[in-house]
Amino acid sequence: MSINLSRPLLAVPSGVLQVPPVPDAALTTRPVYFSLVVPTYNEGKNIRQIVQILSRLLDQALPNDYELIVVDDNSPDRTWELAQQLMADYPQLRVMRRQTERGLSTAVIRGWQAATGQVLGVIDGDLQHPPEVLIELLNTIEHGADLAVGSRHIEGGGTSDWGLVRRMLSRGAQLLGLMILPRVIGRVSDPMSGYFMVRRAAIAECLMNPLGYKILIEVLGRGNVEEVAEVGYVFQERQEGESKVTWRQYVEYLMHLAKLRSRGRITRLRERFPIARFLRFGLVGLSGVFVDFAVFYLLRTQLGLPIARSTILSAEVAVVNNFLWNDLWTFGDIARQQPGKRQRLRRFFKFNLVCLAGIILQALLVSLLHDAFGVNEFAAKLGAIAIVTFWNFWINLKLSWRVTDVRK
Ligand code: GDD
Ligand code: MN
Repeated sequence: MSINLSRPLLAVPSGVLQVPPVPDAALTTRPVYFSLVVPTYNEGKNIRQIVQILSRLLDQALPNDYELIVVDDNSPDRTWELAQQLMADYPQLRVMRRQTERGLSTAVIRGWQAATGQVLGVIDGDLQHPPEVLIELLNTIEHGADLAVGSRHIEGGGTSDWGLVRRMLSRGAQLLGLMILPRVIGRVSDPMSGYFMVRRAAIAECLMNPLGYKILIEVLGRGNVEEVAEVGYVFQERQEGESKVTWRQYVEYLMHLAKLRSRGRITRLRERFPIARFLRFGLVGLSGVFVDFAVFYLLRTQLGLPIARSTILSAEVAVVNNFLWNDLWTFGDIARQQPGKRQRLRRFFKFNLVCLAGIILQALLVSLLHDAFGVNEFAAKLGAIAIVTFWNFWINLKLSWRVTDVRK
């Protein structure tokens, strides 16, 4: 048994799971168009055949312009060693042996990190994914798709001999995924597929953090995939070796969905609701209450103005106070995009209008809560202030400080 020492194993990338926008300069191999990762764990009985079939196919379709990357997780059956021996006969074959990390999804990303291709793909190492479909997947990428997915659930697709239980489990998982992450899972007919390819540019620099088996969900959830294409395929029966799927993969799948969902929700919430801005707005509002009171006190005690006039005057001073702070601080970044006295005056008038409308709204809410719902009048006032604060903030953001003159 001779191991070809001139073709060493690929170094295992470490650090974050992130594919670089261009192949790592430290890689000694010449860049290719297509890099296909074959993740393996105890596929010793399949490795020779799959390497042979894939090489024959790709030698024809993309002569010298592809690479096969076997990523093995230190299989007890020494798949990595068998693959390494094959390198002598298959010049486009590379092998990575991971000894510390484990798991299907991370194996795929590590393989892509070491890849030189513009298009990055993955195929199971047990011949359950029919290799010919690769050509069709490549074609759809050439026609502009960012992501080409082999699907069991469109025309030309299927599962060979799955029992009812396995079918139901697979579909149930998909349905659950649709409920938890509709905008990710809903983009493909077969989100559980482990047979796909993606343009490097669509996932480059996206920080991946996959859990478990379903790498496609991670690519859809975190990548910048615009156009998706699907190609039907029939999931073959395993001839050699055995599946590594246990109940654990189902739990990991659910946790993976939850992780992607919470991430999506936090960023969406932040986009929709600018929390920091709102807090600044609230603080400025609070300062206005003190200004209002102080001025009211001065007008009544020092100048002896009538109560109605004092109320209106002090309120307006508070409005000016709030406007200045908001214009400099709360919405300062927006205000600076529209400099000039005229623009500022316009914002000031709008702000006054919104405040006036806010007072009317507050009065309506207090009487509604108090008279119609029997809420205690002070509680009603408090609730009304809270609602009006939100309303004021929102209208001011969308109206008073809206960027009206877009400068090129
Ligand atoms: N490196 C590495 N590390 N490879 C692994 C690991 C691991 O921890 N676990 C599994 N693999 C490899 C297997 O050797 C095989 O080549 C491939 O990943 C798929 O594993 P199977 O155990 O055969 O999974 P399956 O037959 O149930 O397939 C299901 O998952 C696939 C992958 O997501 C189906 O859902 C397929 O459609 C899907 O492609
Ligand atoms: Mn399999």
